[in-house]
Amino acid sequence: MTVPMVDLKKQFNDIKEEVFETITGILESSQYILGPRVRELEKKIAGYHGVSEAIGVASGTDALHLSVEALGIGDGDEVITTPFTFFATAEAILYTGATPVFIDVEPETMNIDPAGIEQAITEKTKAVLPVHIFGHPADMERIMDIARRNNLKVIEDCAQSFGASIRGKRTGSFGDAGCFSFYPSKNLGAFGDGGMVLLNNPDVAADIRMLRNHGSKGAYRHESVGFNSRLDEIQAGVLLVKMGRIESYNEKRRRNASLYNELLSGGVQCPVELDGHIHVYHQYTIRSDERDEIQKRLGDNDISSVVYYPIPLHLQEAVSFLGYKKGDFPVAEESSEKVLSLPMYPELEDAAIRRIADIINDVL
Ligand SMILES: Cc1ncc(COP(=O)(O)O)c(C=O)c1O
Repeated sequence: MTVPMVDLKKQFNDIKEEVFETITGILESSQYILGPRVRELEKKIAGYHGVSEAIGVASGTDALHLSVEALGIGDGDEVITTPFTFFATAEAILYTGATPVFIDVEPETMNIDPAGIEQAITEKTKAVLPVHIFGHPADMERIMDIARRNNLKVIEDCAQSFGASIRGKRTGSFGDAGCFSFYPSKNLGAFGDGGMVLLNNPDVAADIRMLRNHGSKGAYRHESVGFNSRLDEIQAGVLLVKMGRIESYNEKRRRNASLYNELLSGGVQCPVELDGHIHVYHQYTIRSDERDEIQKRLGDNDISSVVYYPIPLHLQEAVSFLGYKKGDFPVAEESSEKVLSLPMYPELEDAAIRRIADIINDVL
């Protein structure tokens, strides 16, 4: 039995006819960029999250970058964020000339620890950028409270958390901007790159709409120097097909996670789901001192697994100029040494989960 990390082919086979019909319609309309499907998708995703504005962009990285920029953050400013995430989170801050200021993460969820935010605030701090890592919401209630008391903006990195929520309120609807990625393997994934910003402020939304399209509000009038960061109609069409199934995709991920939890109880640390929170398991990530041996044994049995993330951002060579050193963020560093993400996708079969659990339990 070979088990990949994600199986996009299975998902494609299930929706093939609808996708072909949608794409054919788009090809026949010959409207490829920022057309009716992008607008329909923006409306649908805004409605799903209970926000008033949604802007389709070219990637999750761009969603973050344009949000930081449109919120007026740039040269000389500081943005407090987590070191335990994908590199794009920090890149988006650095693109604007601002500096990422890392703080450690919580041991339970590996999300940014709100307890560290206030100590990291200086007169240069303009925003907090939490990431809902692996699909478990960061502690948005505490983060919003700290941010409002200190007059800071909040930009949520929801690349991994489409559909996750805290007491019924979805991630991406708490802060000043919620930034999503539609990278193919994400919970809601396109057939290429794509992203979206959600927010409730029409003025900031207008700025992001301008920035995604060369700083232009209307044809050939440029009010600022922007970017080419548009979502295309074919991606929006594919995403509309999958959006109709997102609840069932996330439900299946959650069911798979429950089975892993049940079978792995014992030697490894399984992901937690805090009370009142809905985890959407973009990744199912265990922690173990025997991580490398578990990964080797899974590999020997044709089962994929990945270490997300082997080097926390504060220790990445690209940002060595920020001056961080090993030991600065012990929880993030220990997580990097112990984490292992196991195969997780809606179509993953129980038999595969049982086999994976047997191998892991055998190692332990
Ligand atoms: C936490 C996080 N932030 C940002 C991104 C960037 O998204 P994209 O690849 O769509 O640019 C990703 C995913 O790739 C991610 O996992």
